[in-house]
Amino acid sequence: MIDVLVVGAGFGRDFLHLYQLHPDVDRVGLVEPDGGVRRTVADAYGLDADYAGLDEALATGRWDAVHLLSPVRFHVEQTLSVLASGRACASAVPMATSLDDVDRVVEGAAAASGRYMMMETALYQREYLHALHLRDTGALGRLTYLSGAHMQDLDGFPPYWMGYAPMQYATHIVAPLLGLADAVADSVVCVGSGELLPQHRGDGSNPFPLESALFQLTTPSPLAAQVTLSFFENARAYTEGFNVYGDLGALEWPSIEGDATVLFTAGPQDGRHRGRPIERREIEPPDRVDALPPTIRPYTRPSMYQPPGGRPAREVHAWHGGSHPHLVHEFVSSVVEGREPSVGARRAASITAPGIVAHESSLRGGLKLEVPRY
Ligand SMILES: NC(=O)c1ccc[n+]([C@@H]2O[C@H](COP(=O)([O-])OP(=O)(O)OC[C@H]3O[C@@H](n4cnc5c(N)ncnc54)[C@H](O)[C@@H]3O)[C@@H](O)[C@H]2O)c1
Repeated sequence: MIDVLVVGAGFGRDFLHLYQLHPDVDRVGLVEPDGGVRRTVADAYGLDADYAGLDEALATGRWDAVHLLSPVRFHVEQTLSVLASGRACASAVPMATSLDDVDRVVEGAAAASGRYMMMETALYQREYLHALHLRDTGALGRLTYLSGAHMQDLDGFPPYWMGYAPMQYATHIVAPLLGLADAVADSVVCVGSGELLPQHRGDGSNPFPLESALFQLTTPSPLAAQVTLSFFENARAYTEGFNVYGDLGALEWPSIEGDATVLFTAGPQDGRHRGRPIERREIEPPDRVDALPPTIRPYTRPSMYQPPGGRPAREVHAWHGGSHPHLVHEFVSSVVEGREPSVGARRAASITAPGIVAHESSLRGGLKLEVPRY
């Protein structure tokens, strides 16, 4: 059994019940600097301890594993502190926003026997798991192209998002595309599009509300992946998904969140019509919960949760394609089994660096740049 500390009670709230219910987790604690939020959340969930800061929590000598869900600018230093303290560390995306910091986390994780995991939701959402299944059963044939977009309107988000370089948050799209191609990014050409309004410019280091990149992937045959990220000046409802195209089948993400995923399947050319017949079918990717402990299986979907000590039951979300229970189970299992998790530091670096280099390309007018190998 391990004790787990959750850091940050924003998105972090969506993971508390999963740790409390996981059979290999004993105590669950919280770090949250906002005193009002901390007390409300700790009371509502019946947490075992709560702290105003990470250093204070680490100094107690308690807690075997830490899951960071603090704002992006804290990820690198907090990850390094946790790893240096001898604990396992999971971090919300992105791992880092510069190549130097990616290297620092990779080195920190290597020195800590690989006890780092990037909690990339896109790698455990049901649509991705189904696309992998289609690929592995041959339903897609040979892959020809991949694409994806994350578009989200960040008006009204905390001030640190103003001016955020979109491609420095590309992991939700890059991760599934590289995973499906079983490849890493070799090089990238990226351009910025649009112009940030003054109120969205932040520190002014990024001029673009939207960036669109074309990655060349390292596979035996040429394969390209196109990735678009947009945070401002774009009246598009939230979308965060991918499309994968093979010579036998193709899968397209629903253009509106919550709509059906579409599977295309090519039949043989019949010699009478131009082009092959292509069947279009709306599908509902299944929840693949068999590998999860029974206590957390229901939480790939929105559910009610009964916290300990007779506290009132609460509704809990299941955003991001039902991925949260899978991420928690993989992180906890890797710690209990003393092995590197599925999204360890080198894989996390291979997912994070392409977007960092893509943003650099867009600042240099679309110059083709190599992506480092990890
Ligand atoms: N699909 C995904 O993987 C996904 C989705 C949403 C958010 N995220 C990531 O999760 C993280 C948290 O997102 P959020 O929207 O909750 O952010 P947020 O800005 O709302 O902050 C979350 C909480 O962290 C607290 N906090 C601030 N500074 C802190 C510090 N130094 N140490 C600990 N806690 C601190 C804040 O008080 C707040 O309650 C971000 O890194 C974000 O990128 C990932």
